[in-house]
Amino acid sequence: MNRASLEKRPEEMAAMFDDVAPKYDIVNDILSLGQTRRWRRIVVDAVGAVPGQRVLDLAAGTGTSSEPFADAGVDVVACDFSVGMLKVGKRRRPDIDFIAGDATNLPFADNSFDASTISFGLRNVMDPKKALREMLRVTKPGGKLVVAEFSHPTFSPFRTVYTEYLMRALPPIAKKVASNPDAYVYLAESIRVWPNQDNLSAWLTESGWENVAYRNLSGGIVAVHRAVKPLQSAESFPAN
Ligand SMILES: C[S@@+](CC[C@H](N)C(=O)[O-])C[C@H]1O[C@@H](n2cnc3c(N)ncnc32)[C@H](O)[C@@H]1O
Repeated sequence: MNRASLEKRPEEMAAMFDDVAPKYDIVNDILSLGQTRRWRRIVVDAVGAVPGQRVLDLAAGTGTSSEPFADAGVDVVACDFSVGMLKVGKRRRPDIDFIAGDATNLPFADNSFDASTISFGLRNVMDPKKALREMLRVTKPGGKLVVAEFSHPTFSPFRTVYTEYLMRALPPIAKKVASNPDAYVYLAESIRVWPNQDNLSAWLTESGWENVAYRNLSGGIVAVHRAVKPLQSAESFPAN
């Protein structure tokens, strides 16, 4: 994968994640310096689902982001379009529902989830706004959306160091530990070009979500955006 691959053709993207699937979680832990567990806890708290509720974990990959929901008694559905990632997940957690599906054309009925979440996945989707609209469609009115994604550190000297770290250190580390180091070059590039916290908030609003707010984690390396599906959608008001 190279710079051009930031265009993220869906079949290439799925194949890339099929490739990294076996070592995905361990490499993730190393590259994020062990922070991922804490970030995941915060996502689960932000969703605030209770046992018995049905939650969509979109772009769930190997299901690492879905596990804390299942462990809390929540009926989590792990959806991803990389069959390689889903297979690794299903082997590890046979109790979780893993469903193959494209974020931009979800195989679920309208209003069928109490909440929807996506961790470190929206950035990889070719048309992220379409995925946000699909998540809106499948979430019940009043239901929550939680998006965890790499973002932009807020302290500018740190932002510079971090960008250097990402662009220079990550690919050589990945070459030593990862089976497909190009995937991590892509990772660094895609984080750099991703919208900042306020711009992502605007995307959520444009996609029909309301009460949009976010929280920075680890100085803005990650941002967790929250929003709610309106109780009444614009289309349900009679036109006059
Ligand atoms: C970095 S992984 C994140 C996995 C998991 N959520 C986590 O937190 O560890 C990103 C995932 O997004 C998936 N993905 C990218 N585009 C997608 C799409 N259009 N539909 C479904 N999944 C997609 C990839 O297959 C990959 O498994």
